[in-house]
Amino acid sequence: MRIAIVGCGNLGSAIAKALREYEVIAIRRDLSKIKLECEKSSKISDAKKCDVVILTLKPQDFREIEMDFQDKVVISFMAGVSVEELKRVSKKVVRAMTTLAAEYGESFVTYCCEGISPDEEERILKILKKLGEPIKVDEEVVNTSTAFASSIAFVSELIEALTFAGVRQGIKRDVAEKLSILTFRSCVKLVENYDFRKLKYSVATPAGATVEGLAKLMECKAAWCLQEAFCSAAKKFKS
Ligand SMILES: NC(=O)c1ccc[n+]([C@@H]2O[C@H](COP(=O)([O-])OP(=O)(O)OC[C@H]3O[C@@H](n4cnc5c(N)ncnc54)[C@H](OP(=O)(O)O)[C@@H]3O)[C@@H](O)[C@H]2O)c1
Repeated sequence: MRIAIVGCGNLGSAIAKALREYEVIAIRRDLSKIKLECEKSSKISDAKKCDVVILTLKPQDFREIEMDFQDKVVISFMAGVSVEELKRVSKKVVRAMTTLAAEYGESFVTYCCEGISPDEEERILKILKKLGEPIKVDEEVVNTSTAFASSIAFVSELIEALTFAGVRQGIKRDVAEKLSILTFRSCVKLVENYDFRKLKYSVATPAGATVEGLAKLMECKAAWCLQEAFCSAAKKFKS
């Protein structure tokens, strides 16, 4: 199957790497910036040679560019671009959202479809599974899940903060960074296997050090700040 990736920048390249077993055409104007072992093109019309067209353009660029893929299945990962808008370029549309971790097949992939037959959906699912875990939801949820894609940046901030805290306590930066990343990785492993609401009680001893740290997080409203960051991002995508 041939797949075109139109707007092959950060997210497009991550998706292209995950789809290496397919015949991919990577499309963007500046071909020198495509660091992928696949066919490259600077012409969006070359996407018509493919069975599936993946759109990873910035929404403002998409809205300014003329394109027509009427008989092709179009999968869009563009934040805030509705199914209604996508129908301008094809009758068969999948609106999806994912994260840069799609490159490693480790992302969520929320999606909804319109004009797609059950056979086509099965083929699309095979593609989406290469990016991680597909979850079929209503369009509204695809839209809001964009804030989970943004949360990759929020969590990166937390990793950096923990690294800095280690440095404040006298640990060398490279060691603190490693410890911080491993702590997040360990936490993900644990929450996948245990109830995350109970996890803190397995770590904290009554009147111990962890519980003091947790109390400080509550005092600083750290969880509330994270919620606010998420909701601000979600609000922006809805506007
Ligand atoms: N980055 C993320 O983590 C992430 C996560 C989820 C969703 N998204 C969504 O993915 C989309 C892309 O985001 P991004 O971060 O990957 O942006 P990006 O790196 O800027 O990629 C967009 C690409 O589109 C290309 N482009 C612009 N105009 C074009 C044209 N006329 N013809 C062909 N290519 C054109 C640009 O390359 P040239 O200038 O060389 O043409 C650019 O590399 C956005 O809609 C965003 O909402 C991103």
